[in-house]
Amino acid sequence: MFYHVKELQFNARVSGPDPKFAALLLEQFGGANGELAAAMRYFTQAFSTRKPYPDKYDMLMDIATEEFSHLEIVGATITMLLDGVNGELKNAAEACPLNKLTKGKAGKEEVLHEALTNPLFLIQSGGGPTLTNSQGVPFSGSYIDANGDLTVDLRSDMAAEARAKITYEYLMKFTDDPLVHDSLRFLMTREIAHFQMFGAALDTIQPNFPMGVLQGDPRHTHTYFNLSNGADARGPWNEGQGPWDEGESWEYVKEPLKHVIDTDGEINHEPKGVKTTQEQVAAKNKEMSKKRSEEVKSKTASAPAQWSSYPQDKLESPMRPDTSQV
Ligand SMILES: [Fe+2]
Repeated sequence: MFYHVKELQFNARVSGPDPKFAALLLEQFGGANGELAAAMRYFTQAFSTRKPYPDKYDMLMDIATEEFSHLEIVGATITMLLDGVNGELKNAAEACPLNKLTKGKAGKEEVLHEALTNPLFLIQSGGGPTLTNSQGVPFSGSYIDANGDLTVDLRSDMAAEARAKITYEYLMKFTDDPLVHDSLRFLMTREIAHFQMFGAALDTIQPNFPMGVLQGDPRHTHTYFNLSNGADARGPWNEGQGPWDEGESWEYVKEPLKHVIDTDGEINHEPKGVKTTQEQVAAKNKEMSKKRSEEVKSKTASAPAQWSSYPQDKLESPMRPDTSQV
C-alpha cells in the first residue's frame, strides 16, 4: 500500500527558471540511471526476495520508496525550472512570449533548439516533466535489472547507484543555481548511502561468491588471457594472489593462441593457481543448491498463501491465510 505524504523528502528550491537545465535534468527523471529506473529496479527485485530474505525485502521496498521520493524531488525541480513556460505557452496571442523567460533572442533560440531535439518536452508537457531521458527517449522497462538472485541483484544495484551518483555529479556542472545545487547534492549523496546499504546487505549473505549457486570450473576461473600486443599492464587483476584465497594466484596466459592449441580448446587445461578440485566443486554445487533452495522452501507456505499480515508486525511472509472466517 502506498501513502502519499505531501511534504517532499528534501526541500527542493530553485533561484529562477532555467528551461535548458530542466531538459538536462530529465535524465534523472526518465533516463536509464534515473530515479524512476532505480525505484522500479528495487521494487521489482523485492518480490522474489520476500520468501528467502524477508529482511532484504524490507530494505529493497524502503529504498524503492525513497527513490520514488527522489523522483518527486526531480519532477518538482524540473517544473520549477520551467516556471512560466506553461503560462507563456498559453499566452497564444503574444508573438514571442518566451523571450521574457529566456533572456533575449539567443535564449529563446536555445529553448527552440531544445524543443526540436526533444519535441515532447515543452511542446507536449508544456511546463512539467515528461517520462523520457534528456534526449526525449521514452522510459523503458529494459532499464530494469531483476535476476531473482540477491547476490546478483545487489551487485547490479551497487553499479546502478554508482552510475546515478556520477550522473548527478556531471549534472551539477551544468547549473550554477545554488539552490538547485543543494538538491542535487542531496540526491547525489543518497546514492552514496544506498551504495553502502546494498554492499552491507550483500555481506550478510554468505557465501555470496561466486554469484548465484553454481561454482566456476577451476580450469577457467583463475586464467587471464593476454589478448593484445605491445606493452602489457600487470596488477592484482592478472598477477599474484589478487582477489583469490591464500595460496591461490592468477594464471597469466601470455600466448593465448598457443595456449588454446596446446589445451585442445581449454578441454585439457590443467588448472593452475587454484586449490579447488572438480570433486570439491561438485560437492559445493550440491551443498549450495540445497542451501539456497531450502532458504526459499523453508519460508514458503504452500498454497493457499497470503502475502501480508494485518498489522504486518513480523518480517516473515507469505504465510498461510487464516481461513477460519471464510
Ligand atoms: Fe539511489
